[in-house]
Amino acid sequence: MATDTIGTVLYTQEDIWKRAKELGEKITEDYKGKELVLVGTLRGAVMWMADMMRNIDLDMSIDFISASSYGSGTVSSGNVVIKQDVELNVTDKHVLIIEDIIDSGNTLCFLKKHFSQRGAASVKICTMLDKPARREADVYGDYVGYTVDDLFIVGYGLDFDQKYRNLPYITYLEG
Ligand code: IMP
Ligand code: MG
Repeated sequence: MATDTIGTVLYTQEDIWKRAKELGEKITEDYKGKELVLVGTLRGAVMWMADMMRNIDLDMSIDFISASSYGSGTVSSGNVVIKQDVELNVTDKHVLIIEDIIDSGNTLCFLKKHFSQRGAASVKICTMLDKPARREADVYGDYVGYTVDDLFIVGYGLDFDQKYRNLPYITYLEG
């Protein structure tokens, strides 16, 4: 069995929590008086979702969506499919997508359209990580935790072939 080589720690859980707190305060201000639905993307965003929701001081709902353009490899296909949709009705609601990482941007481009077509009042993105080097779609994070270089990131929810999601920090695979 091939073993992967893990790089150095890029961000600790304390670093990530600190950014979640800062962004949460901003989101709390920005969405005051609005009906907010946080939509976490399964499965990569689970830890970031938990951090963000604890740092937003508003009455809000949460839901999850699962979309995929990845197989078990490391390159995005551009073909996005929804594997599990939200249960809540987002019509006239302000949707804030909580994403783990924006890479090509194809997934979020698709999801933004998906919620707009459902009649959301607004659709914005809060991403833990932004990896702009390989962007294909015209999409950006409205709230960004950290910007990373063109590395294959793992940990804190992010996987390689379903491994490493449970690491309590952000690192990368040496390749
Ligand atoms: P997209 O290329 O922006 O559509 O990225 C879609 C999804 O691929 C992200 O939400 C992640 O779940 C996954 N992904 C992208 N880059 C990485 C990475 O560096 N490590 C692990 N997963 C990634
Ligand atoms: Mg994701």
